Amino acid sequence: MRIEYPHRHERFGAVRIHDSTQVIELDSGLGGEEEETTVQGRSVNLVPPADVNAVEQQMAIIVPTKNERRKIIEGVLSGIPHDCLIILVSASDREPIDRYELESHLVERFSHVAERPAILAHQHDPVMAQAVTAAGFGDMVGEDGVIRPGKGEGMMLGVMLAMLAGKRHVGFVDADNYVPGAVHEYVKAFAAGLHLAPTPYAMVRISWQSKPKVEDGRLVFNRWGRTTQVTNRFLNAVLSTYNGFGTEIISTGNAGEHAMTIELAKRLRMAGGFAVEPFQFIDLFEQFGGAFPSPHPEVTRSLVDVFQTETRNPHFHEDKGAGHVVDMRLQALNVLYHSRICPEAVRDEICEFLVDNGVLASGEEPPIERIYRPLEEADLDALWEVLRTEPGDFRQIQRRRATAISVEDPIG
Ligand code: GDD
Ligand code: MG
Repeated sequence: MRIEYPHRHERFGAVRIHDSTQVIELDSGLGGEEEETTVQGRSVNLVPPADVNAVEQQMAIIVPTKNERRKIIEGVLSGIPHDCLIILVSASDREPIDRYELESHLVERFSHVAERPAILAHQHDPVMAQAVTAAGFGDMVGEDGVIRPGKGEGMMLGVMLAMLAGKRHVGFVDADNYVPGAVHEYVKAFAAGLHLAPTPYAMVRISWQSKPKVEDGRLVFNRWGRTTQVTNRFLNAVLSTYNGFGTEIISTGNAGEHAMTIELAKRLRMAGGFAVEPFQFIDLFEQFGGAFPSPHPEVTRSLVDVFQTETRNPHFHEDKGAGHVVDMRLQALNVLYHSRICPEAVRDEICEFLVDNGVLASGEEPPIERIYRPLEEADLDALWEVLRTEPGDFRQIQRRRATAISVEDPIG
């Protein structure tokens, strides 16, 4: 992959947020060594396939799924590079039809034909609730005795499984992407970015070049999603307040497609639901921004790199309606409002925005979203002990070679 290297960034303490850069060429050819050149005033990095692949071998790709169409999920799986470990975390309905059962068959068939392993878990399987409780994360479990609904909760479970499988990187791709080639590009961009990062604490966030929609019978290639615009505006307002200069550097506040090193993932706190992605920025600022003492001085002394990569494929996914977009936007603003790094002036702006949009009554406070402890505090041995002895609906699919059957589980 040939990828532009950012030459502009903003700092918030140890956190370095790079300006968004483009993928120049999806496939840069077999030959060549890693090199950085300046062409037409742009720094361009060639990341050879072997280096991209070396990261992929160490990466789990987590696919959160909730009642998506199987044909689309199958396309997503086909786009995930072969050497990444697939972890599908489903919150799909079990009744009247057991969709998880159908998803399991789908993943099993795919894994068999593609000769690759996979891991499958259902977020609302009571055994999973027992497992995370044993790991010390009982607060993920709701009053109904199973892990709470929410994309963030599903991702958290996925990261725990990736850690158990001994992976060094985790990436996330949505299951409702119509374009397998886009998924493929996202993961290649994750791997290239993580390879280039000069620090063990790195994150790559995808910003799509376009998100097409059909309007009046024509395809319109919109630049930004609706939620993203609002989230970015307020996150940039926080940065501007601290640095004293206006900035628009954050363009991926809501990036559902992103990846990071496990070293970073396990130190970050995760938020529930759709607050999860914007909260990553907020927690980076809280923990490593220098405004408050950090629980991880080793990270603050080093560097946290956030790359924002603009990919080439259009992002085509299921349209889930306007109500859904409002919900997501609110969750982002709620977590920002309640963060201790949020300056008073930005807090006021958030309230004003929410009141203007008819979401809050004047004088009312945004609700509090769920925020979990960092996963480095999880007792993964205890979690594994539960799954090993009583797997419930947890499934590991072994890599089966057409020529020689190998019986290696991804975990244990
Ligand atoms: N396991 C699990 N649990 N998966 C879930 C849940 C859940 O509770 N809720 C949603 N998902 C899955 C969906 O099936 C889909 O694969 C993915 O998570 C994203 O959910 P969507 O409902 O498709 O969200 P979206 O398309 O509106 O928003 C996406 O893009 C935003 C950026 O524009 C998400 O990735 C957001 O997180 C992201 O901010
Ligand atoms: Mg979607």
